[in-house]
Amino acid sequence: MIYRYDFGHPIDTSAVIRQLPAEQGELPRFAVRREGEKLSFSCELGKDDFIFGLGETVRGINKRGHLYRAWNSDDFSHTEDKNSLYASHNLLLFSGEGGVFGAYFDDPGEVLFDLGYTEMNRAVITSVNGDLSVYLIEGDSLVEMCREFRGLTGRSYAPPKWGLGYIQSRWGYASEDDIRAIVREHRERHIPLDGMSMDIDYMDDFKDFTWNRDAFPDLPGLAADLKADHIRLVPIIDAGVKQQKGYDVCDEGVENDFFVKKADGSLFVGAVWPGRSYFPDFLRADARLWFGRQYRKLLDAGIEGYWNDMNEPALFYTPETLEAAYAKAEALREKNIGIHEFFALKDAFGTIANNPEDYRRFYHEIDGKMVRHDKVHNLYGAMMTRAAAEGFAEYDPEKRFLLFSRASYIGAHRYGGVWQGDNNSWWGHLLMNLKMMPSLNMCGFLYCGADLGGFGCHTTGDLLLRWLQLGVFTPLMRNHAAQGTRDQEAYRFENWPEMRRVLTVRYALLPYLYSTLMKAVLTDGMMFRPLAFDYPADDTACRTEDQVMLGDEAMIAPVYEQNARGRHVYLPEDMLLVRFRSASDYDLVPMTKGHHWVELGLHEFPLFIRRGHVVPLAKEAEWVEAVDSADLNLLGWLDGSIEASLYDDDGVSTAIDLDAGLKAITVTLRDGKATASGEGLTLHTNDLVIS
Ligand code: GLC
Repeated sequence: MIYRYDFGHPIDTSAVIRQLPAEQGELPRFAVRREGEKLSFSCELGKDDFIFGLGETVRGINKRGHLYRAWNSDDFSHTEDKNSLYASHNLLLFSGEGGVFGAYFDDPGEVLFDLGYTEMNRAVITSVNGDLSVYLIEGDSLVEMCREFRGLTGRSYAPPKWGLGYIQSRWGYASEDDIRAIVREHRERHIPLDGMSMDIDYMDDFKDFTWNRDAFPDLPGLAADLKADHIRLVPIIDAGVKQQKGYDVCDEGVENDFFVKKADGSLFVGAVWPGRSYFPDFLRADARLWFGRQYRKLLDAGIEGYWNDMNEPALFYTPETLEAAYAKAEALREKNIGIHEFFALKDAFGTIANNPEDYRRFYHEIDGKMVRHDKVHNLYGAMMTRAAAEGFAEYDPEKRFLLFSRASYIGAHRYGGVWQGDNNSWWGHLLMNLKMMPSLNMCGFLYCGADLGGFGCHTTGDLLLRWLQLGVFTPLMRNHAAQGTRDQEAYRFENWPEMRRVLTVRYALLPYLYSTLMKAVLTDGMMFRPLAFDYPADDTACRTEDQVMLGDEAMIAPVYEQNARGRHVYLPEDMLLVRFRSASDYDLVPMTKGHHWVELGLHEFPLFIRRGHVVPLAKEAEWVEAVDSADLNLLGWLDGSIEASLYDDDGVSTAIDLDAGLKAITVTLRDGKATASGEGLTLHTNDLVIS
């Protein structure tokens, strides 16, 4: 059950789609305290209690022991001490001595989550503005509470099937020739590929919905050629609109009053890639409709996938902060610069980006009232995602488009996916990628993934290989790197044949992965779960954070340390180890519940299948449309007959239906031999271990 409690004057964030009546009594489980505008909710924690949730955040799956801050931030250094990343997913799930319960803090402003940081046995959640709805979730299990929460916040976004293909990306592909060359290198080496991202370099002067006509003389032609080769273009769109007379998006936005304004009614100006820019008021339905329609320029060019960026919104500077910095520097010009002046000079420019003062300089129009941005800051990116999704739905309501965003808030999970932002080519970030997956899933974000290989810093051949081995399982599987870093396409490395073989596993598992994702979408479930969700009575499982459950059938446990040739794995029950080298080269090792050391050469990675379950494997394919989902090899360890199911659909239409898409699979064991059947499926059973 979910109960709503209102405090102050909550702003409608549209995170919730089912309107519950506000409870009149006191909020149970928390002590509520008001201090000025601030409102805090405090609860005691049992010594060994767990806290899950918070979606896109650093550190563990169990969030206990740190201070987090809901404040969408453009921060490219995701170190352990960071309190905020690009998203605010204010869901907490408590589990321990007092059973399980959850709380969702629907507050689009700044919220602090002190989860045993100040006092080890106390959680204090503080709403800085004090205007919010708190949804208390009572249930019997963590899995069930997540399902109920999704019932409250709505069904998750379903990507087109091709969006589960491998996407190659880089900040720096600046022309049609660049893109064709990368594609050619993949196709010639038979490295599977379904998408090519286009970063800001494709634009004309970093202007949204334009492209550089010299570098891309025939974008529709390029999109069509690539599509004939089963590859889609995925351009980036940024939140800021270049301030320039004669640029249609800017002119229209100004004429129709769609951009955010300052208190005096003048347009707010902030700088991003194109320099001075205006920012659409995505919190307004009419501005959203207008911005969503801009995508038509690229949709008409045949482009079916997009990533929305810089939508926290990121601000390099405003004229005001820049002016203040110049003034400070000027005042120091004649001085003998010692310790104090030196840091003052550094800070003068070091603090101009994403400056808190700037987020208080502009206003949104909500229900005819002007609301200062910082009160609703965390909604901005979510509403940009919504603008795009609504634009696509208007353009072609029958078709699924690929969409993922950097900034988000709960509610945006209905409209698109997310990527985990500007990580680094660090082994620790491979592990962080894994840990974030179940946390994002709890909050409804199912289509997600991180920049494989790492965005910042120079990657290495072994890191990229290991990261691709994790990426095999993440719905968004994109290799992306920052400008100035070492080339990161798989084929640039001597061990590219091993990377190619890893990618063959992704495509062979595609029927299973797509089925698992879509079942999660259609049943309000999770594709990835912490072990604690499935084995709540097993304390070792509950405290295992480098392994994650995948669907109802499997568990993943990637290698995330350099030079490792294996890893420790805890099996909460008997499982079959599939040690993959490629789609056609793997070992099957039945393993019993308990602790194991699993040998995994650099070119090998594991999938664990729960005993009594099967995972289907298709034949190798180089793009999603070539995957034969009807001819499948079943992998598993069985000691009796079982019933399983697989979901599939045409992969593109918006009419998705669980009953229509589910195919039953029956595996029958007789005299130690397995036979399998499924409607319209050819199923092979040679790889079933029977005992
Ligand atoms: C931001 C994005 C990154 C992109 C870059 C240039 O840092 O997070 O993915 O490559 O901007 O557009």
